[in-house]
Amino acid sequence: MKKIYEFLLWNNCNNNCTFCHQRLHERKNTDKILTKEEQIKSLQLCKTFLQTTFEKGNHILLCGGEIFDVTDTWVKLHVNSLLSQVIDHMLADEIELLYLNTNLLYEDLELLEGFLENIKQNNLFERLRFTTSYDIEGRFNKNSELLFYKNLKYLTDTFADIRVVVNTILTKEACLRIREDRFGADYLLEYLEEQDKTKYTMKDWSDYFRVQINTIPYIQLKSDTAPAAPTKNEALATLLHLDTVMPGYLKWYAENIGLTQEKLLYEYNKANNEFVFCSSEIAECGHSVNFQLSFADSTDCFPCEVQKLLKYNK
Ligand SMILES: C[S@@+](CC[C@H](N)C(=O)[O-])C[C@H]1O[C@@H](n2cnc3c(N)ncnc32)[C@H](O)[C@@H]1O
Ligand code: SF4
Repeated sequence: MKKIYEFLLWNNCNNNCTFCHQRLHERKNTDKILTKEEQIKSLQLCKTFLQTTFEKGNHILLCGGEIFDVTDTWVKLHVNSLLSQVIDHMLADEIELLYLNTNLLYEDLELLEGFLENIKQNNLFERLRFTTSYDIEGRFNKNSELLFYKNLKYLTDTFADIRVVVNTILTKEACLRIREDRFGADYLLEYLEEQDKTKYTMKDWSDYFRVQINTIPYIQLKSDTAPAAPTKNEALATLLHLDTVMPGYLKWYAENIGLTQEKLLYEYNKANNEFVFCSSEIAECGHSVNFQLSFADSTDCFPCEVQKLLKYNK
């Protein structure tokens, strides 16, 4: 199976998700937050890495923090330059798939749109894995959630071929809302109730936005403000519920989450101007040790538990 080279270009981000490890650096103002000059160095080094160390034919992921919410003209120029080089590598079949994460919590879409236009011109939407995120707890206030909805709708309306995957973290609250078919913000649900619609499943949400939702295991942060994690029973009951709302979901989910695809995570280190290999440790089962932090009452591995659930549920 092909590898994914993952580049964490910087931890800087405009949002303040209470569950996020990257944002924690910013709250503590650690040396993991880059100045504009350092951001440019990180982008340049990523270009060099792709020309030298990267093993051709594999996939890459570019992520932050936030990489598309850039206001500085020079940093923008360098983000564009890296993205253009990536597109050239894709056209030369040196990079197969490009994974991107962005929060869509910014007014200025110029950088993102320019890139997507370039993908469109080169017929590369099939090889773009475009991911954004929606969370019931810890991500939005009302204004930012509305901005997210507006941007998401705009992208899927503007780029007919874009396939968007929306990550949603399985916190305790998210699990509860999914199981009760109340997926969405309170004000949205109130509005729907006024129109006698009492149920709003995760499928309704994804159909409305024309996206695919990916329920991801929570890697619980040790912090008082981080959302609570579900118990193992609550998390697994949520996946069983999704299987009734979307028949076949559990099988598909178990197969995908169980994949032990090699992911090589490199984080930019500003002290030495280098990408430091920092993939997390792999447990004996073959999955990241981080997946042992997903349940409130158990350190069992999330992907292994999902696979057992599928086996015993057949
Ligand atoms: C770190 S973010 C970077 C991209 C972008 N800022 C965003 O939020 O989509 C990448 C993904 O990690 C997820 N994430 C952040 N903290 C997490 C946690 N504690 N457990 C599980 N996923 C987390 C986010 O929700 C997002 O989908
Ligand atoms: S938007 Fe992404 S990077 Fe920013 S704080 Fe939230 S999860 Fe972290």
